[in-house]
Amino acid sequence: MLQKVRKAVFPVGGLGTRFLPATKAMPKEMLPVVDKPLIQYAVDEARASGIEEFIFVTGRGKVLIEDHFDRSYELEQVLMERGKHSVLENLTNSLPSTGAVAYTRQQEPQGLGHAVWCAKRFVGNEPFAVILADDLILSDTPCLKQMMETREQKGGGNVIAAMEVAHEHTSRYGIISPGEDDGKTVEVTHLVEKPTPEEAPSNLAVIGRYVLEPEIFDLLENQSRGAGNEIQLTDALSKLLNNSPFYGLRFDGTRFDCGDKLGFLHANLAFALAREDIGKDFKEIVRDVSQSL
Ligand code: G1P
Repeated sequence: MLQKVRKAVFPVGGLGTRFLPATKAMPKEMLPVVDKPLIQYAVDEARASGIEEFIFVTGRGKVLIEDHFDRSYELEQVLMERGKHSVLENLTNSLPSTGAVAYTRQQEPQGLGHAVWCAKRFVGNEPFAVILADDLILSDTPCLKQMMETREQKGGGNVIAAMEVAHEHTSRYGIISPGEDDGKTVEVTHLVEKPTPEEAPSNLAVIGRYVLEPEIFDLLENQSRGAGNEIQLTDALSKLLNNSPFYGLRFDGTRFDCGDKLGFLHANLAFALAREDIGKDFKEIVRDVSQSL
């Protein structure tokens, strides 16, 4: 029987220099889209996809993330006294259960591949997911769930989220060499991290969602530094695909690059407009503002 994907790794060690001064004392993963921090969207997506254990690879200055996923008794008490029961319920329901969350520090910033490797002992010998909170995805079915369904349909293997990007932007992404392709799921024959448009084998990019076999950890352990002089996950993945089935899934949904100011603003606009409580009023505001442009 196919082993279930139960654990997700959240690399949250990055500095977030593109959002200074906002991220001087606050982790970039705590930046809110409307009223929810990016990292909470990532955890909610994992949970809605069936993930049971949450492993955060953190770094210095990231303790707020731990506080965010903990009980806050004083706050709960105040909300109770004020009769704000639904707010309180939302807060407590959004917490991972006790013992289901682990934090480990990436002591040196050596890249995404190294961050994932740091979770090795927590993941153990089973398939797992990786979610990059910077990539926020608005969709009916959670992106990770779509990927897990693809994995089941294929009878196992590795699945990464994929999306066509502008050719001139290939140097921002891991890029896929596509093999057999049914328009939705594509066989990955090779991967290259941040190639120039001239070097890129396609414009099909890796988006920050991965469902991986545990063999990746041994490959990461021996992985030499690549693009940006960092240990790249993409480089280890391109070795993994030599001995394990590997697919890219063009997921249903809209992806926002929240590691970038414009992408982050775009996400706030789209998520606010999609909200039942404020969407209608916000639309009026957007209309007024755009008319005055
Ligand atoms: C990382 C990965 C890259 C992937 C991207 C998706 O890059 O290394 O392969 O395409 O996430 O957002 P980063 O954005 O951390 O530089």
